[in-house]
Amino acid sequence: MFRKTSLELVRPEPSVPAGLVFISGVEREGVIVRGRTRSRSGTNYEIKRGYLDLLESRGGASKGASNLANLSNFAPGAGRLYEPVWRTRSLDLLTGKRFSNEREVDLIAEMVELDRSGTYLDLGCSAGLYTRGLSLVLDELSRESDMIGIDISPNMLREATSRSLAAGTTPSFARADTHELPFQSSSFVGVVCGGTLNELGDPALALRECARILKPGGRIAIMGILKSGTRRGVNLQRLLSVGGVRFFTGEGVESLLEEASFEVESVTTHGAVFFAAAHRRYELPEIQEPNTA
Ligand SMILES: C[S@@+](CC[C@H](N)C(=O)[O-])C[C@H]1O[C@@H](n2cnc3c(N)ncnc32)[C@H](O)[C@@H]1O
Repeated sequence: MFRKTSLELVRPEPSVPAGLVFISGVEREGVIVRGRTRSRSGTNYEIKRGYLDLLESRGGASKGASNLANLSNFAPGAGRLYEPVWRTRSLDLLTGKRFSNEREVDLIAEMVELDRSGTYLDLGCSAGLYTRGLSLVLDELSRESDMIGIDISPNMLREATSRSLAAGTTPSFARADTHELPFQSSSFVGVVCGGTLNELGDPALALRECARILKPGGRIAIMGILKSGTRRGVNLQRLLSVGGVRFFTGEGVESLLEEASFEVESVTTHGAVFFAAAHRRYELPEIQEPNTA
């Protein structure tokens, strides 16, 4: 599903300076349930199985997956099992104390300042914990806002859509790559990111893309996993890094954000987890459109 009003921000072809247009399909109360959208170049992009697919036309079902950790999210059942098996208890395990999903979503909502009208992006949404949690809050605040969850994994996106519908909210979902965000520059008011930076091939590039699509002063709220300080943790993380997972120090996260044109406001740690809040600088050295090659 995808909000019709959010199509104008979607730019899958950087050389085409206009959003997508809804051509045909099923629409309910401003939400396209399934159907066809088209760019001004004439390329069609389908909304089916619960999300707008911006990678299908670029070939390869696993397009965007750059390591083993990413590929595991394409496995059958990965979407369905992700939240019940891992996500509902991940922060309890990683922080060493009771840390409910509700508390985590509240914290992220506060850091990204959800009371501003506009469009928010969830970077690597998996089964949509942040997308639907924040969308439920936005529903209460204003109908002018939308939450867009993106991921490269079809399984995750399908699960995210059905969990959102079951929770009674209709955010937008798209299959897209964080390294090449298919959105208009300076158009979002906030970005949230739960654990995805740890899995990305190039987190610095993804953060620069976030800065590009955010309006000046637009906010980013990140949860991620820290580099371990214990011998057991270091050994485990060494093993995971073979699959492409990386871990950060608090200072490392700050520099990544600063180098991507963010002003860091806070980096707090809870056991092995960090939460970072920042806003996009008002002046960027130069806002570059994504690579058109
Ligand atoms: C650690 S999980 C994120 C969990 C989710 N944000 C949450 O809070 O429950 C990382 C997700 O990022 C997605 N992902 C990995 N690389 C990506 C990329 N280049 N572009 C978009 N999504 C990506 C994976 O498919 C996976 O679902």
